[in-house]
Amino acid sequence: MEKVLWNGKIVNKDDVRISIDDRAFHFGDGVYEVVRVYDGELYLAEGHMKRLYDSARKIGIQLELAPDEILASLVELKEATDLIDGTIYVQVSRGEWPRNHAFPDKAVVPQMVGFTKEAKRPLEQMKSGVKATIIEDTRWLHCDIKSISLLGNVLAKQKAVEAGCFESIQHRNGVVTEGSSTNVFIVKGGTVYTHPADHLILNGITRQRIIELGRQEGLDIQEVAFTTDELLQADEVFVAGTTVEVMPVIQVDDKKYSDQPGPITLKLQSLLFEDIAKLASIKS
Ligand code: PDD
Repeated sequence: MEKVLWNGKIVNKDDVRISIDDRAFHFGDGVYEVVRVYDGELYLAEGHMKRLYDSARKIGIQLELAPDEILASLVELKEATDLIDGTIYVQVSRGEWPRNHAFPDKAVVPQMVGFTKEAKRPLEQMKSGVKATIIEDTRWLHCDIKSISLLGNVLAKQKAVEAGCFESIQHRNGVVTEGSSTNVFIVKGGTVYTHPADHLILNGITRQRIIELGRQEGLDIQEVAFTTDELLQADEVFVAGTTVEVMPVIQVDDKKYSDQPGPITLKLQSLLFEDIAKLASIKS
């Protein structure tokens, strides 16, 4: 029987009892994180825990466990499920209360659930590059919160799938924000650009690490927004996230950049790869 995390305890999946009155069902009222596990080790877990805390705080959910306690239960979950390579998903909803938009009574206890999933690194696509399509960003204006209300992102990803693409690149009034589940970067004249970490994007943990690692290597990385025209005139494009790492984009709609990923994209991809390899004994 699959083991999952439920309010700090490892239990059988079938033993979890979540009420139909949980606000996750009524309102998507909760926050979540996805942490990557490589060779049995959690990657950048502290950053994910901090963001889970920040997301919960921004929507007024008081977490019962401290970040290091949540991390300890995620490690316990990883062990209980024998996860070697994959992801850990953890979600906290505001809890159970008869449907009513306003926050429930303060005594209502947030519900935490977590599960693991085996996943391979998308090495083929990371080598060959992928296609993306530009769409309008029709989501809300609190994209910095890692909310479980993901309808806008779901619709955006579906548009990518229907266009035969790996990802949708969203824009607001012509300014590129982010992908449906990734951050977007371009390279122009040797400089790397990505949208600043404000309310219009999720400040990806992978994004933050790429910026850090790239700058340590002396790359010029600017947290400056760019337009869809600049995207189409870029030298290189890539998207980044926990499960896709640094994913080269070689075509956006009808614009083909090159037959293979560009040099700065590959440099950042290998810097992240070395960073991951430091933590685990990964063979490429
Ligand atoms: N998504 N932007 C959005 C909208 C995202 O949903 C994600 C991650 C990212 C990248 O963030 P990070 O580097 O911290 O994974 C950016 C996760 C993986 C998901 O929903 O499955």
